[in-house]
Amino acid sequence: MSKYYVTTPIYYANAKPHIGHAYTTVAADVLARYHRLLGHQTWFLTGLDEHGAKVADSAQKAGLGPQAFVDQLAVLFERAWKNLGITYDDFIRTTEARHVAGAQKFIAVLREKGALYQGKYKGLYCSGCEKFITEKELVNGLCPDHKRRPDLIEEKNWFFNLSAYLPQVRKLIQEGELKILPATKRNEVLGLFDQELKDFSASRQKVSWGIPVPFDAKQTIYVWVDALSNYLTALDYEHGGKKYQEFWPADMQLMAKDILKFHAIYWPAMLLAAGLPLPKNIFAHGFFSINGGKMSKTIGNVIDSNDLVKKFGCDATRYLLLSQFPFGIDGDIQESRFIEKYNAELANNLGNLVSRVFKMTQKFFGGRVPKTRRLDSELALQNGTFNQFDSQYLWAQVEKHLAEQFEPFECLTAILRFVNTLNSYVDHTAPWRLAKEDKKEELAAVMYDLLFSLQQLSGALAPFLPATAEKIKRALGGTGLVSMADCQKKLGAGQPVEDIKILFPRMEK
Ligand code: MSP
Repeated sequence: MSKYYVTTPIYYANAKPHIGHAYTTVAADVLARYHRLLGHQTWFLTGLDEHGAKVADSAQKAGLGPQAFVDQLAVLFERAWKNLGITYDDFIRTTEARHVAGAQKFIAVLREKGALYQGKYKGLYCSGCEKFITEKELVNGLCPDHKRRPDLIEEKNWFFNLSAYLPQVRKLIQEGELKILPATKRNEVLGLFDQELKDFSASRQKVSWGIPVPFDAKQTIYVWVDALSNYLTALDYEHGGKKYQEFWPADMQLMAKDILKFHAIYWPAMLLAAGLPLPKNIFAHGFFSINGGKMSKTIGNVIDSNDLVKKFGCDATRYLLLSQFPFGIDGDIQESRFIEKYNAELANNLGNLVSRVFKMTQKFFGGRVPKTRRLDSELALQNGTFNQFDSQYLWAQVEKHLAEQFEPFECLTAILRFVNTLNSYVDHTAPWRLAKEDKKEELAAVMYDLLFSLQQLSGALAPFLPATAEKIKRALGGTGLVSMADCQKKLGAGQPVEDIKILFPRMEK
């Protein structure tokens, strides 16, 4: 059986979760749900990055000890993911004993393999980015992301011998062994190899909030080495346990472009050094702004996904996040468009289709799947508004955008197009007129088409709008949504069909 291991970044436990984190996490959930419905052995990991100077500073500002501080935040992240219907299989926190032991093993292996050496780092460090930064990268002397002057530090560290692995990492990316997606990001990453990529400190001397280096009690593991190793430690890399055997290497590692260099260069280099297999796909989606501006606490435009869920519901929030712009590119989230999109695409289009098909089934067939003699091959009332190829096209699109590539935006666009097609099929065939004119055969054929299409639609929608999909599938009788294959099975004539409550009540502006 195929397996599928998908990860999100582990987010810094220094502030509440916001829709930036939600965006990546919902996307990963779509993939996990899709692969489960295909029957693949799936593992979906998310979690929190709880060590380092950035977290320690935030804890201090909040007047709490670092552990108490991250404990509070972990509750908020887990709650936000629950509200968004995120079905992670594991939530790792880097302060957990299993991670501490695993990260210590990882750095010990790097040393055994000769990938570490002792040296002195003298230079700049931005604790906002948790990275070593050069003068060249500054804009007017400030870190371009955090708009503040990085610290000048001087300390003895264990360095990772990055340069020894760069040619191999580059080759693996060029040859497509390690896929960096989308293609534009792959090119950006390849471009980085022509710039200066220096060996980096794998340990820190002056950061006490971290995991002790097992072979040097005066040092803690550099927060990025600590954090990246979570993808292994969560699988019980320490003992080479069953999960590790089953799921490593990762099939898909998602993140935004802000941390692509760490994932596409540092991470593979460390894995090569440790003698471990590399992830298969690394996907860096775009970064988004809010109403035209960078999302920031100071500007006060941070959107909490819990607020969106309260207003629109879980499924609609997932939809609104992923349907703003293509996943791979930067975009702007406009809050004012949420209600418009909700009303137009979910309430009017999808909601209305589902509601009228179920109502007509009650009215014309007493809530049962009609019996139709029409064969697939003869399909549709040759009026060209809808035929079997539309559902074949739907499945082809789902596969193209979720399996071959990862394009959740395009997938949703295709699904909505299918909904539109079905709506115009209803308008065109006008079942109420067929009923009035007593055209029983035709009416049964049209209604069967519609019910069967709704079942297929429920499968396509399931990774994105899980509760909605489940409601539709259940109302059609039989089982709940157990697999994609099940949604493509014919409906039995006479099978009871329930009416369904309004899925997306219209919302006032
Ligand atoms: N802790 C590190 C990651 C370690 S992974 C081994 C980190 N944390 S973070 O909290 O800053 O999360 C960054 C990630 O959050 C991005 O890569 C992206 O997945 C998500 N996003 C945060 N803000 C976002 C936007 N404005 N737009 C898109 N994604 C956003 O980096």
